[in-house]
Amino acid sequence: MLSREENDYLTQTGPGTPMGAFMRRFWMPFMLSEEIAEPDCDPVRVRLLGEDLLALRDSNGRVALVDQFCPHRRVSLFFGRNEECGIRCVYHGWKFDADGNCVDMPSEPADSNFKDKVKLKSYPVREKAGVVWAYMGPADAMGGMPELEWMEVPDDQRYMSRWYQECNYAQAVEGEIDSAHVSFLHRKIDNDAKNKAALTGSYFSGDTAPKWKVVDTEFGMTLGARRIVEGGKYYWRMNQWLYPFYTMIAPVPGESRTVRMWVPADDGTCNIICVTYNNERPVTDAELHSWQNGLSSHAARIPGTLIPAANAANDYNIDRQVQRDETFTGIVGIRAQDAAMTESPGPIVDRSLEHLGTSDTAIIKMRRLLMEGARALEDGHPPAAARDGALYRVPAYSAVIAEDADFDERPEILEGMRVAPAAVKAAE
Ligand code: FES
Ligand SMILES: [Fe+2]
Repeated sequence: MLSREENDYLTQTGPGTPMGAFMRRFWMPFMLSEEIAEPDCDPVRVRLLGEDLLALRDSNGRVALVDQFCPHRRVSLFFGRNEECGIRCVYHGWKFDADGNCVDMPSEPADSNFKDKVKLKSYPVREKAGVVWAYMGPADAMGGMPELEWMEVPDDQRYMSRWYQECNYAQAVEGEIDSAHVSFLHRKIDNDAKNKAALTGSYFSGDTAPKWKVVDTEFGMTLGARRIVEGGKYYWRMNQWLYPFYTMIAPVPGESRTVRMWVPADDGTCNIICVTYNNERPVTDAELHSWQNGLSSHAARIPGTLIPAANAANDYNIDRQVQRDETFTGIVGIRAQDAAMTESPGPIVDRSLEHLGTSDTAIIKMRRLLMEGARALEDGHPPAAARDGALYRVPAYSAVIAEDADFDERPEILEGMRVAPAAVKAAE
């Protein structure tokens, strides 16, 4: 449990908050390139760390992330014209380029230099592997972008999507690193050990109280969960949590890997980017069908929105008969099952009322690492992981071993949790 003050410290990420300052030291993924695919595309509203921003691609193909509100009389530039390398406010015609410079101010006399004194707030942006990233911290503290494994696989071997969740980022992440819940929340009643399409099967239902081993790392932490499976063997599942909000969920051996980025839109809303990828082969039609329709790790959305089709307003389409006969929840899809749990306490859970057990070890540790990181920054020590993107070259991993040994004592597992160094370091 946390005190109310600690809970505020952990969950508040707006401008001027310690956790917000900590987050702002990292590159932040916030949308998919395909959402602003073409030059002079429609601008898209973006809410990031409590700030209302606007993303657009200018005539040269450059992405801009700027304050949503015009510095003249603060109307929304969402209604503006994205034309000839700038966004033009439709109220009085002021125009701003991707760096936020005012390049035209037709409502003032031609000999006025007022436009040179007005600036629109603009953040540095980069695109990588189909995702758009922003840096919102001090210019002299800008570090490298995280080098994540999915960035290096061919486009046809990965699928990505984005949606919103109506809860604080920490709450959403806690649901993800809570490895104990897979034995319950995602269970099928008629458990078929051969069916590995969902996170079910004998690996999860046979041993519902796994042994935990959580190891601090430079990038965050590795969460090992060991279950005893058929033949008296040991199934180790190593999920990763990486500063400040990335999670990697270990695949069932041979299946695709999933990475989620739980980016605070504001303190009550999480902007989620999910990437599922396979190192060996292209995405299959069956996988695509499952992901696009919200049957597993991705959300099916209400068309034209970032709101999942199964959401709190419709009780995630829970079917009580299915819950009696077929699945533990009666809710379709891992994503919706998770969201039903993590959104249900309300946007910010009161952590002073919790009763945490041994299965919550990773959650306790994540909170501590984040709060320690934010306090260290307040004391003048910036986070090391924000500087060195190579620390992120780590996948989630799972393996069945015969020996009764911890995962971090087994060389083959440690090897499996390493992404080879990049042949050529990506130019940034
Ligand atoms: S409010 Fe934008 S130009 Fe006047
Ligand atoms: Fe889950």
